[in-house]
Amino acid sequence: MTDDWLRHNRENWDDRVGVHAAGDFYDLPGFRAGADHLRPFEAGELGDVTGRSLLHLQCHMGQDTLSWARRGARVTGLDFSAEAVSTARALAADIGVADRARFVVSDVYEAESALGGERFDIVYTGLGALVWLPDVTRWARVAASLVAEGGVLYLVEFHPFTEVLDEAGESVVTDYFLTGGETYDFPYSYTGGAELTRTVQVQWHHTLGEIVTALARTGLVIELLTEHDFTMWPRFPALERSGEREFRFPAGQPRVPLMFSLRARRPA
Ligand SMILES: C[S@@+](CC[C@H](N)C(=O)[O-])C[C@H]1O[C@@H](n2cnc3c(N)ncnc32)[C@H](O)[C@@H]1O
Repeated sequence: MTDDWLRHNRENWDDRVGVHAAGDFYDLPGFRAGADHLRPFEAGELGDVTGRSLLHLQCHMGQDTLSWARRGARVTGLDFSAEAVSTARALAADIGVADRARFVVSDVYEAESALGGERFDIVYTGLGALVWLPDVTRWARVAASLVAEGGVLYLVEFHPFTEVLDEAGESVVTDYFLTGGETYDFPYSYTGGAELTRTVQVQWHHTLGEIVTALARTGLVIELLTEHDFTMWPRFPALERSGEREFRFPAGQPRVPLMFSLRARRPA
């Protein structure tokens, strides 16, 4: 089954787009009305993006990409789902930033040729991106190759530790060092909503060490690695909402990292 991972995952993601666009989780009407889609720490860690070229790998419907465009970046979003890219293009027009936003359909591993050798001040990705990729070393090479001299790669991801916990978020039930793809057949997306038609998906677990080492070996210089004690959705029942889109363990309960962010620079 994992041999067909690219086809299965692309079909599954094509199916999810209509469900996501119609649902509350991604809240497209709110986004069109001006809602910011980025996490509060991101602008601080990345700095001013005005006038800078920003490539968002695995951009989905483009809300994060376009949130950077709203802050003044010239953005390119890339995703292998033609449905996602078409929704993102429409969204860019709806919010009036189509002049500084373009979207490209491509497998992330083929991004260099899809983008014609262009390099970017900022390569941005994450939040449910790496689990869809079998080879994190290959991903790191591609992502790093797209960073211009003096530019940065900024990765914000769900912490791999969260994948070893049970549904309650209380016990370790899965091997952190698991390797190999896992095939799932599940009729719904994580957002809920209508049933999907193409339900097979393949995911991979990558440890924090693997990800950081893969990036360090590309020659990028790692400038920060932050582990966050909150996430963006009620991943475990015990998490409490503590901000508009922040969910944390209750006071007094031991915490584990729920997200991480990493900034790495190509020396000028
Ligand atoms: C969970 S979403 C990322 C969401 C994004 N961070 C956001 O908040 O909008 C994962 C995205 O990765 C894309 N994707 C998965 N595998 C891919 C691949 N091999 N190449 C390009 N895009 C891929 C999917 O189409 C989907 O849009």
